[in-house]
Formats: sequence, C-alpha cells, structure tokens
Amino acid sequence: MNQYLNARDLAGEICYQPTFFQTKKRVHYLTQQYLNLAYLRDRIENLSLQFINPKPRSWQNIEWHSVSQSQIINLELEVFLAIIKGSLDTEAPIRDYTQTSRQYLEAIHPEMARFVGGKVKKDNTIIELGLWEKEERQHTPALSKIYQQLTGEKPVIQWRKPKPYNPSDHPHRDLYRHGLHRIITEYSAVCLYLWLMTRTTGTIQQILAELLQDEINHLTKFWGFGMWLYPDQFRHQIKAKSPGNSYHSMMRLFTTFRRMMQTLEWQSWKINYKIELIFSFIKVLEQMMQWSRTLTPEYLDKLFGSNSTQVINVK
Ligand SMILES: [Fe+2]
Ligand SMILES: [Fe+2]
Repeated sequence: MNQYLNARDLAGEICYQPTFFQTKKRVHYLTQQYLNLAYLRDRIENLSLQFINPKPRSWQNIEWHSVSQSQIINLELEVFLAIIKGSLDTEAPIRDYTQTSRQYLEAIHPEMARFVGGKVKKDNTIIELGLWEKEERQHTPALSKIYQQLTGEKPVIQWRKPKPYNPSDHPHRDLYRHGLHRIITEYSAVCLYLWLMTRTTGTIQQILAELLQDEINHLTKFWGFGMWLYPDQFRHQIKAKSPGNSYHSMMRLFTTFRRMMQTLEWQSWKINYKIELIFSFIKVLEQMMQWSRTLTPEYLDKLFGSNSTQVINVK
C-alpha cells in the first residue's frame, strides 16, 4: 500500500491523484486554518502594534535544499514552473510598488504610508523601510530558490515598470483607485498561493505557506483600511446595492484576474486546475466577506483613528 496513505500536511489529508472533491477539501481546510475569523481579526489588530513598533512577521525555519519535484502533487513540472515564474514577475519590483503606494497615502494617513513605504527624506532617499516592503521583498528570493532548486537554473525575471505616482487634484480619489488595485493584487496572490498549497506538500508547501500568510496579513490590513476610509463605497460593493460601482469593481477584478492568468500561462492549464483555482477565489472571497461584515465603523476607528465625520466622494 501507498506509504503516504492518510498522511497529512499543512492542507490536511494528502491525495496523490486528487479528484476535484479532494482538492476542494484541501482548499476548505486551508481557509479554515489561515482565513478563519479569529486569525483575520488578529492580523488587522496587529496593525496598532506595527504603527508603534514595526516588526516583520518572522518565518519558520526552511530547509531550502530539500525542495524537490516529488513535493508537487499531480501537476506537470512545466506548468508549476510557469506559475512560479509568473508569480516572480508579478512580485517584482517591490520597491517601486511600495514607494508609489506610500506617496498616495502620505497626505491621507501618514502611519499607513509608513507601514507600506517606510520613511523618506526630502530628496527621496529611504531612511526606513516599510513593513510591507520588508515582508514582500522576501517573496521574490523564496520563489527564485524554488525555481532554482527544481531546474538548476536561476529564473530570468521580467521586470515590469509599475504605473508611477501620478496625482490629480483629488488625493482621496487617487488613493481609492490605487488602493483598490493593491487589494485585488493581494487577494489574487492569496488565492494563488492557497491553491498551490493544495497541490504541493513538504518544503515547497511550507514556503508557500509563508508567502500565503504574508499576503493574508497585507490583504486584511489594506481591506480594513479601505473599509475605514471609504465605508460607503466598500459596503456598496460588498452588498452590491450600487450596480454602477459594483460593475466597475467587477471589471477591475476581471482585468486583474485576466492579466494575472496570462502571466501564469493559464492557457496551457488543464481544465481541473482552472476550476480548482476559481473555486479557491470564491472560497477566499467568502471568508473575507464574512470577516468584513464584522468590521464596524467604531472598530475601524479604533485602529485607524476617527473617520466618522468624513464624507468622501470618489466618483
Ligand atoms: Fe508577495
Ligand atoms: Fe502581496
């Protein structure tokens, strides 16, 4: 009999020839582990600590040299490598991303600006790194190591040029558009790494779990901040009471999703991988929505400061 029968890993029971229902079970297990309400609450409440004394979340000890192809579950190596490569291209260049976000945030919430992009001098030299950057900048080397260990070659990263800071005379509207994009990107990363964890085990899965936790950490913080600053827009989107607004967000979500899928060479995927990933997107969103409903204005004011009198029009 198979020595792995009934073996368990970070995503629950391991199945080496998984059916959709078995993978679905693993997705469910992971959302219960990493996206349960208590965990999400802890991640956003952690922000108060980070505003006072920023400290990156530390990773577990990883035995990098033990990464091997046998830790990939029933997924072709080329497909897996294309996904890792696509994720690398999406994660880099983090420095540009953090600095753009910091600029949009500066005038609106200096503490949050510091959290994402640190502190800079007048001449733009960085004197302190943002916590978001400190955590995110570990992702590219981690994915590179997986790739290198599996192929014996260093991946060639395609450095994209992120949209530069381009302010209008309406900083709140600028931040809304920019921030929504950030949230969608973090959310997509959460779903992708979560799904990859269902299809891996051992060291590769352990590495992905670290990336996943970082992305969840950022997603909750950015999402909560968005809810606090733009309560009407966010609630409308969640309840879908405002068809116009929801339509635009859906379109944005769809565009980001399509772009991400192209980067991951989605066209070469088997249909079951596609279904599993879409299922992961739905499951993660469900958890986030459920948590989101617990974020009352009073609760958010405690984290981000008083926002009760602000009415912001982002149209
Ligand atoms: Fe990342
Ligand atoms: Fe991220």
